[in-house]
Amino acid sequence: MAERTPVIAGNWKMHRDHLEAIQLVQKLAYHLEAADYEGQEVVVCPSFVCLRSIQTLIQSDRLPLALGAQNCHPEDEGAFTGEVSPPMLQRLDVTYVIAGHSERRALFGESDEIVNAKVAAILRHGMRPILCVGETKEEREAGTAVDVVVSQLRGSLAGIDIALDNAEEVVVAYEPVWAIGTGLTATPEDAQEMCAAVRTELASLYDQAISDRIRVQYGGSVKPGNVKTLMGQPDIDGALVGGASLSSEDFALIVGHRRD
Ligand code: PGA
Repeated sequence: MAERTPVIAGNWKMHRDHLEAIQLVQKLAYHLEAADYEGQEVVVCPSFVCLRSIQTLIQSDRLPLALGAQNCHPEDEGAFTGEVSPPMLQRLDVTYVIAGHSERRALFGESDEIVNAKVAAILRHGMRPILCVGETKEEREAGTAVDVVVSQLRGSLAGIDIALDNAEEVVVAYEPVWAIGTGLTATPEDAQEMCAAVRTELASLYDQAISDRIRVQYGGSVKPGNVKTLMGQPDIDGALVGGASLSSEDFALIVGHRRD
């Protein structure tokens, strides 16, 4: 099996203005040790209005953090009032862009087709998508969780070419909707089972070697107390962290989970 570099990303959602964002990143950097960054990637995904400030901070303080955005429009430019394009993000040294978060799917009507166009645009501009998939509580209870996730994966990756040498640039985040912001977490076994199903589907869409290189994160109430067992699962290569990433102490504990 290919060695995959885990990626831990903080999704701040619509929290923190640019001044608070600067403070949060400064505190996070203070809590982290050089060894915490080794062998894993650490990403912060603030709101669009904070990206420029955080880009400057990362550059001036030479922080080994990557910058992520929470969304983008699939087009390069145009009459799309209020939207932000991939080239604009790329110019801000954004490395990762979250695509198809369940909040965007549920609250802003994003279909697999839209998410698919976003993933293509993110890759076309040399950035890395964090493609979110996940079932609702009802879907899990009905026993259709794997079908739902596999179908989201197929729809969101339709026509997307992933080769062996760019497979590491694609991240899939398995985020069960019922675990997001609820304090409920999938058991490590259930999370592993779904991440393995994601990898099996990726192998059938591409091939086994490519699938083995794609990073698959778990997201949904990841906390300092549960990150270690989740990350210990063979098919879980990182975490997409919402609430806990808003506390520099908690996010540092999550990133630093290998310390003890
Ligand atoms: P949570 O959010 O960690 O607050 O559950 C995860 C996410 O929405 O990415």
